[in-house]
Amino acid sequence: MTQPSGSSPEKTLSQATKDRRATPSFLPDPVPENDLKKILDAGLSAPSAYNLQPWRFVVVRDAEQRARLRQAAMKQPKVEEAPVVIVACADLEGWRRGDLDEVIRLAQHNGYGDEARYASTRKNISSLFDSAPGAAGGLAPDFAVWANRQTMIAFTTMMWMAEVLGYDTAPMEGFYEDQVKAALGIPAHVRVVALLAIGHRKGEDKLFAGRFAMQRTVFAEKWGNPIP
Ligand SMILES: Cc1cc2nc3c(=O)[nH]c(=O)nc-3n(C[C@H](O)[C@H](O)[C@H](O)COP(=O)(O)O)c2cc1C
Repeated sequence: MTQPSGSSPEKTLSQATKDRRATPSFLPDPVPENDLKKILDAGLSAPSAYNLQPWRFVVVRDAEQRARLRQAAMKQPKVEEAPVVIVACADLEGWRRGDLDEVIRLAQHNGYGDEARYASTRKNISSLFDSAPGAAGGLAPDFAVWANRQTMIAFTTMMWMAEVLGYDTAPMEGFYEDQVKAALGIPAHVRVVALLAIGHRKGEDKLFAGRFAMQRTVFAEKWGNPIP
């Protein structure tokens, strides 16, 4: 639901979760730089396993780039209409290309942990992520799934921050990954996870299609026990 953004008070998260719809169509009104920064900062403050932050984001605002991205995103008009589209990616090689070093440098800088801990973190992560999925006693993850999981937390945090600031959003998985990569120059070792359009909706909001009753999807103590 659109409200004035910028200097107006932020919505509560409770209100935002009630109001949010996957916006079908956007006005061209821009998202000011300071709001975009807040949205990005919120996402980048998300948690990730080992604090490894495998996510990468391409912020697409340029009209020609949005037009190219739209073609890659099954020609969905909202990709070109929205003033900002954030393309969430997962870097499958980041941990070995400097991210692990940076995680440890940050921890040292912030006085978190000690040298023994940094050494064991480096050893454990390297052996885990260098193993085939399911190895290491079943602990080694399918790395693409692992990186996707982390990235979606940051992506979703950005979506809620945009909603709290009074913007409308549209998450999208309807795109051809190879085409998105070609349009944005994304390297081979990076996966495209999802697109997030942000702006102000044009016309009526999409109707609420409903959600499953809690009893269907939430269990108490054991699988299948309905929550009272
Ligand atoms: C990860 C993800 C991908 C989605 N991809 C698309 C998409 O490509 N195109 C689209 O029109 N809607 C897309 N949607 C919107 C969903 O269809 C929508 O969220 C769902 O129908 C529920 O509607 P609501 O969000 O308005 O409550 C996507 C939603 C999510 C969470």
